Amino acid sequence: MRPFLIAPSILSADFARLGEDVDAVLKAGADVVHFDVMDNHYVPNLTIGPMVCQALRDYGVTADIDVHLMVKPVDRIIPDFAKAGATIITFHPEASEHVDRSLQLIKESGCKAGLVFNPGTPLHYLDHVMDKLDVILLMSVNPGFGGQSFIPSTLDKLRQVRKLINDSGFDIRLEVDGGVKVDNIAEIAAAGADMFVAGSAIFSQPDYKTVIDEMRSELAS
Ligand code: DX5
Ligand code: ZN
Repeated sequence: MRPFLIAPSILSADFARLGEDVDAVLKAGADVVHFDVMDNHYVPNLTIGPMVCQALRDYGVTADIDVHLMVKPVDRIIPDFAKAGATIITFHPEASEHVDRSLQLIKESGCKAGLVFNPGTPLHYLDHVMDKLDVILLMSVNPGFGGQSFIPSTLDKLRQVRKLINDSGFDIRLEVDGGVKVDNIAEIAAAGADMFVAGSAIFSQPDYKTVIDEMRSELAS
């Protein structure tokens, strides 16, 4: 497996001073910026769009930006995010009319592509598209809000997807999102994840470096 990636969710960052806060978390050792896009339609919350992604690029953020689309419809916002500097774009397959087309659109826009599975979403959406995926993201909470508790059945689902990825031979990241903390990250990694989104666990702490270092030492144990 490739090196573990820690991706702070900026949903829990200080939106009034987002550039500084993203800078701080990257300087503290984060690998990737996780960017949660909510539309108050597919999920019951409303967040940020391509203009804010572009603003982070203009501010000088050079790290990969992992755009997690919790929107419906999916396709029309993809090119805008690609132009605004997204590196990875993931979406929920049940929110897209044509999953294969949405994946192709992301690739044609020059970004890495991924599918996101809610705790109750079946894995059959993976059946015919593994060759088009750079990332599979398993939600370990129901999407819409930060600060929720990790749903334990995600561990079994992670083990299933890790096996699917290994059996496929494709180079696909296995990302997990929701309720990831210092005290459960090792168990989540043992189940097969290699990319960890953490929002409240990092941004609620006064010192981001301490918590990221603690996560890395858990991952190394
Ligand atoms: C939830 C979002 C998550 C969320 C994670 O819908 O996709 O990225 O911000 O937050 P925590 O780590 O606080 O569960
Ligand atoms: Zn997310």
